[in-house]
Amino acid sequence: CGIVGYTGKRSAMPVLLSGLKKLEYRGYDSAGVAVNENNKILVSKRDGKVQGLIEQIKTDENVDELEAAHSGIAHTRWATHGPPTSINAHPHPGPESKVILVHNGIIENHNSLRQKLESQGNVFVSETDSEVLAHLVESCYRGNLLEAVTEALQQVEGTYGITCMAKDEPGKLVVARRGSPIVLGLGEDETIVASDASAIIRWTRQAIYLDDNDIAEINGAQVDIRSLTSGSVTRTPSEIDWSPDAAEKGGFEHYMTKEIFEQPETIRNTTRGRLDAERGTSILSGLNLSPRELVDIQRLLIVGCGTSMNAGLIGEYAIEDFAGIPAEVEQAAEFRYRNPIVGSRDLVLAISQSGETADTLAAVREAVEKGSLVAGLVNVVGSTIARETGRGIYLHAGPEISVASTKAFTSQVSVLLMIALKLARGRRLSQARGIEIVQEIKRIPELIEWVLETNDKIAEVAQHYTNYQNMFYIGRGYMYPVAMEGALKIKEISYIHAEGYNAAELKHGPIALLDENMPVIALANKGAGQDKTLSNVEECKARSAPVLGVVTAGDKESADIFDHVIEIPDCPQYTSVIPAAVALQLFSYHVARLRGCSIDQPRNLAKSVTVE
Ligand code: G6P
Repeated sequence: CGIVGYTGKRSAMPVLLSGLKKLEYRGYDSAGVAVNENNKILVSKRDGKVQGLIEQIKTDENVDELEAAHSGIAHTRWATHGPPTSINAHPHPGPESKVILVHNGIIENHNSLRQKLESQGNVFVSETDSEVLAHLVESCYRGNLLEAVTEALQQVEGTYGITCMAKDEPGKLVVARRGSPIVLGLGEDETIVASDASAIIRWTRQAIYLDDNDIAEINGAQVDIRSLTSGSVTRTPSEIDWSPDAAEKGGFEHYMTKEIFEQPETIRNTTRGRLDAERGTSILSGLNLSPRELVDIQRLLIVGCGTSMNAGLIGEYAIEDFAGIPAEVEQAAEFRYRNPIVGSRDLVLAISQSGETADTLAAVREAVEKGSLVAGLVNVVGSTIARETGRGIYLHAGPEISVASTKAFTSQVSVLLMIALKLARGRRLSQARGIEIVQEIKRIPELIEWVLETNDKIAEVAQHYTNYQNMFYIGRGYMYPVAMEGALKIKEISYIHAEGYNAAELKHGPIALLDENMPVIALANKGAGQDKTLSNVEECKARSAPVLGVVTAGDKESADIFDHVIEIPDCPQYTSVIPAAVALQLFSYHVARLRGCSIDQPRNLAKSVTVE
């Protein structure tokens, strides 16, 4: 979910609504705003996307008052408790509307709090845990909002990022954070509160990122931060280094296509200054590990979710392949509930575009607790995972807005290749081989450009695959995780059910599903296992499955086996994962576009899932 708050001299509404638009990628089931105009709280909320809310406000009978107010709070939701209806939309008022709030996260003890408040006569209108929080704050309210929120939060178990207002304290916002990010944008005579910096860069570059257990009272430019656990604290502002343009569509129809086409540039940014062509190694100072510590590492454990986990799987192959160190990938959500075996000589890599995914964050905390080395591979600077790991490598891919991840994935893979190289050079890999690998990594932007130029051809191929209900993606070795990522992309944005499978495993069960309605998309470019994958493709054809191949340009013999092909340039398998993934991103994009799907904001998803 996304939160915005404003207090200052200008009219709050434009800041709130433009902020919600920027945060919509965090959830878009329903949206709402509340403002305080002359000690009167006015609310507008509804189901659906932010644009619907904007239209609703225009025709509200109180539109003048709504637009005149100088302070307000707003929210765009990704449903956790209760379906996405107008009643469940935020902001939520207390029973007498003395206070009102927006909330991200999950109040774990909401049932017992609800029962207690109901026994005191409170009546709830929504099914949300957030309304329980609003009632709780109001039950503690005796004229001072900061005191009421402080008292209420002592009784709360779970996670929150909240922004509250009180009817009788116009101009004042109280915000607090535990688990869900809150950033304060500091203007000259105003403050903008948001879940992330994209909602504030239009107004200011000066930002304070709240820490867990921080609570702040804000009025105009006045910001007073305390800690719920240790009294008054100082948080130093930092400068946001994104340009506002980086978060715009730049002439593309969708953020997703813009982000796909940005990849040559984003990979250049990811690798810039990090490759040493002479010594045949990579320079990754953010890892903050001495050569000694690097050599001492006996195992890598990679954790992440969704696309980030798929990138991790490619990292696992490269680390074992180059460096000969055992590497494993674990779904972040499983890690902490499994009593994992990690120790001080294990390096845990937490991969996350947003740096806020709750499952990944929980894994990070568990690994820190167990005394292992933990590093973050994170895109969003200043995000929670980046801060809690204290060491790591920023992706520098720029803001990724489309919910389906594209450019973050290829940057993650590039960073993992550089990590594998670094670890390998401290061990068995020769300088000559290191130099070769550096050259291959440097070619990645060109490989992507090559694929992007075939966009029209991929669009044509996509036309043949828009009417299926199901698909299989297959590959082996390095290409197996690419098959998984390809399947995830098509599921996310075109709603076609797809499975990423190891090409060899297909015959051990799933082959029973094959017929003319079940296309198989095979990663069959040159490299280890190609001939075996091609035999598997023949097995699929023998069961009447339509077959689409991702093949190496010029490999006519392989191309002839398939009904349709998408070509990628010739390169080693460890880098070919990137052009292959980009080709499948474009394929998914065109299938989804032809099916008329909502590309940047697919149903039921959110870009950053801050609940477990
Ligand atoms: C959500 C998104 C996915 C993403 C995953 C992990 O589920 O919809 O696209 O891969 O979270 O996100 P992260 O920010 O941790 O990479």
